[in-house]
Amino acid sequence: MHLKKTWKTAAVMLLAVAAVTTVTAAFYFNYAATACCAVVPLSSSSLLQESSNTAAMDNEPYRSKLVGSSATRPSKLYAVCETRDKLRSPADRDRFSRHRRQTIDSTSSTVDKNPGNKYSYNGESETARNGDRGNDTTLIYFITPTYPRREQIAELTRLGQTLMHVSRLYWIVADDRPDCSLQIMNLLPDFSIPYTYIASPMPSIYKHNPDAMPRGVSNRRAALNWIRLNHNINDSNAVIYFGDDDNTFHLDLFKEIRTTKKISMFPVGLVGEYGVSSPIIDKGKVVGFFDSWPAKRKFPVDMAGFAINVQLLFKYPYATMPYKAGFEEDRFLSALAIRLDEIEPKAENCTRILVWHTQTAKKPKPIVMVRSKATLPGSLATLLDQVTMLGIGGVSETTGVRSYMTKNGNIFRV
Ligand SMILES: *[C@@H]1O[C@H](CO)[C@@H](O)[C@H](O)[C@H]1NC(C)=O
Ligand SMILES: *[C@@H]1O[C@H](CO)[C@@H](O)[C@H](O)[C@H]1NC(C)=O
Ligand SMILES: *[C@@H]1O[C@H](CO)[C@@H](O)[C@H](O)[C@H]1NC(C)=O
Repeated sequence: MHLKKTWKTAAVMLLAVAAVTTVTAAFYFNYAATACCAVVPLSSSSLLQESSNTAAMDNEPYRSKLVGSSATRPSKLYAVCETRDKLRSPADRDRFSRHRRQTIDSTSSTVDKNPGNKYSYNGESETARNGDRGNDTTLIYFITPTYPRREQIAELTRLGQTLMHVSRLYWIVADDRPDCSLQIMNLLPDFSIPYTYIASPMPSIYKHNPDAMPRGVSNRRAALNWIRLNHNINDSNAVIYFGDDDNTFHLDLFKEIRTTKKISMFPVGLVGEYGVSSPIIDKGKVVGFFDSWPAKRKFPVDMAGFAINVQLLFKYPYATMPYKAGFEEDRFLSALAIRLDEIEPKAENCTRILVWHTQTAKKPKPIVMVRSKATLPGSLATLLDQVTMLGIGGVSETTGVRSYMTKNGNIFRV
């Protein structure tokens, strides 16, 4: 308790020092939130320290080494880049509800009768279809681990636009990089979803074995830590779900997981050699698992195949995810002391696939060779700057793919 308090104080001071505007957050629950800091990059010295008790459940080989070194613990660091727990500024909100009204007008003759209600848009899409079977006082924390790569902005754009359809959702985007990304900070407000953006780099000691890198672990640990520090358990019920940026989510999934009392599970499509990973249900109870990589795991499930009630995090304050590739789900669920008979099957007793482990093909970043960067025609210079800034390609005068512009079927070197 005391430790937690100290941590909180430190965090608050840090944010104040960073000259961040602090706003009162009366959104879903009470906590002091920062409305943005365009100050990037954060130096690594300003990274926050994950509270040490969350490390207690670790049982990976590195642990003793870490505990042994008393000086610095490089593995426990993350920084909150930005928190926005409300929609954008009033002007942006107007723009958004205008857009919303136009959308409604074009699909039906109904006019949004309540444009002043700032969250009304958010509840509609989910409830309009089949009625909301969920508990709409229950918040969903949607934790997305992400990492810098060519496809990152594209993936987050697509996911953000899925999440826009879901009511009562708080998005925690945890990025595997030491500094906050300006591009992502520019992007996230576009979805009008309350969110927190965190920089949570993987500690370098885990990068030695590229075949077994525990990807996304520092991100998820940081997000869980953030929830433990910021969620007021007395305030609002909430459910936690891990959704990768390249997965595909059916909107019905959110209705299903919102009613999670303790832990729920459901099938994930496109996983492993069976094409699906799922619990097997008989008479409403889990009788086993269907997953092509058992690996002696008690819970052979995919990260996207379960949701937990936030109360579990507080009941087991030391439970966390180990830096052990392939065993993150199993060890995390074991740390939460889950029993098989407690698992609530969702998605029609695990017969429907509402989440897909889609993956985006990775291609190397192309370098475009131009004759001279100074004489690129028209908009091309600015466009190529953008391509470079987003990390999806590069421009060079000396190497790369020779490039041409095309006009009337003729090609000209640029
Ligand atoms: C929640 O409520 C309990 C019992 O009323 C109280 O002891 C506790 O301090 C409260 N916690 C917070 C974070 O408000
Ligand atoms: C909905 O959530 C509220 C607040 O936690 C709780 O009191 C209520 O029992 C829940 N209802 C259902 C149907 O789960
Ligand atoms: C799941 O199975 C149980 C037990 O057979 C049954 O009572 C329940 O209606 C089923 N639920 C759905 C959504 O099919």
